[in-house]
Amino acid sequence: MIKLHEVPPEPVDPASLPHDVNAHSPEGDGNPDKRKKIFGIPYPFSRSSCRRFLWNCQKISVLPMALYFPLHAANTLITPAVSPDSAPDDVLMMVREILPSITTKLLVAGITLHVSAGVLLRIVNNWNKPRRNRHRHLKISAEQDLSQDSIGLTGGISGYLFGLYKTFRIPPQVISGYILVPVLIYHLLIMKWVPNSISTEVDFASIKQLLSSKNRWWKWLGGLVPLAILLESGVYHIGSGLCRYFGVRKMTSRKKWSTAINLLTLVGFVSLIRLMKEDSTKLGPNQFESIFKKIRLLLHVN
Ligand code: HEM
Repeated sequence: MIKLHEVPPEPVDPASLPHDVNAHSPEGDGNPDKRKKIFGIPYPFSRSSCRRFLWNCQKISVLPMALYFPLHAANTLITPAVSPDSAPDDVLMMVREILPSITTKLLVAGITLHVSAGVLLRIVNNWNKPRRNRHRHLKISAEQDLSQDSIGLTGGISGYLFGLYKTFRIPPQVISGYILVPVLIYHLLIMKWVPNSISTEVDFASIKQLLSSKNRWWKWLGGLVPLAILLESGVYHIGSGLCRYFGVRKMTSRKKWSTAINLLTLVGFVSLIRLMKEDSTKLGPNQFESIFKKIRLLLHVN
């Protein structure tokens, strides 16, 4: 007959334990039947590690843009407001000399990665999304959520002025990002890609001609409207995006960022108006004629 002895408890070395497939794995990943699936194929990464990876990609990829933006903003948004004559072109030449020729490619690569990571992050976040815990939701909603996701930078004008924070169903950061995509593509098309393809360069003289053109389609739809949208959405998106990536949470600091963003936007509009008011008859040949001709050819419109 076997006798049973009582033994004192001993500490267990975790390394000696058999590997536990459930440890550190996402909900349901351990059991093959409960694993999250894409088109019926179980995927081996947890949702949280995927999210962390994509968030980091989205964040790191703004580095070229974050470094370039102050130079470009000083050149295009501030200088013409101070003096619209020859100063913007002088600064433009200086910036072109400082920056390596690979700059545009780096910017496009960074922005492409930034937008793709954002779209994938959205898909991963919404894929097999578990139902929201009602109790937790009720507890959170008892006090107002002041995150940038929910109220944007300052909760609108009423939030900025009176502390009555407006909430948004889709974060303004995301909306401004999607507005930026087509206007930035158009901007690159008329200022970089098409001029390069016909071996010409756009400078401020040609932008003044575009903005003061007698042809109203060129002036408004080809120039002023897309540039104004680019200015407004770009300054907001980049300013409040940096605020978010730097982890600025205090409302007083966010209001200071908002003031800076609004001031820069205002100065940008003054620049646009001053460029538009320049006398285009004194400015030599218009580069945009050949650029728009090429675009019309590409689009097969006459
Ligand atoms: C320094 C430059 C930039 C910074 C700091 C920045 C920052 C951010 C931040 C913080 C988000 C929000 C992430 C989230 O809430 O989930 C975001 C999203 C987005 N950004 Fe940017 N961004 C920059 C440049 C750009 C540019 C130049 C474009 C487009 C041409 C762009 C397009 C987008 C889009 C489309 C989204 C939404 C993606 C999604 O969630 O579906 N961003 N950006």
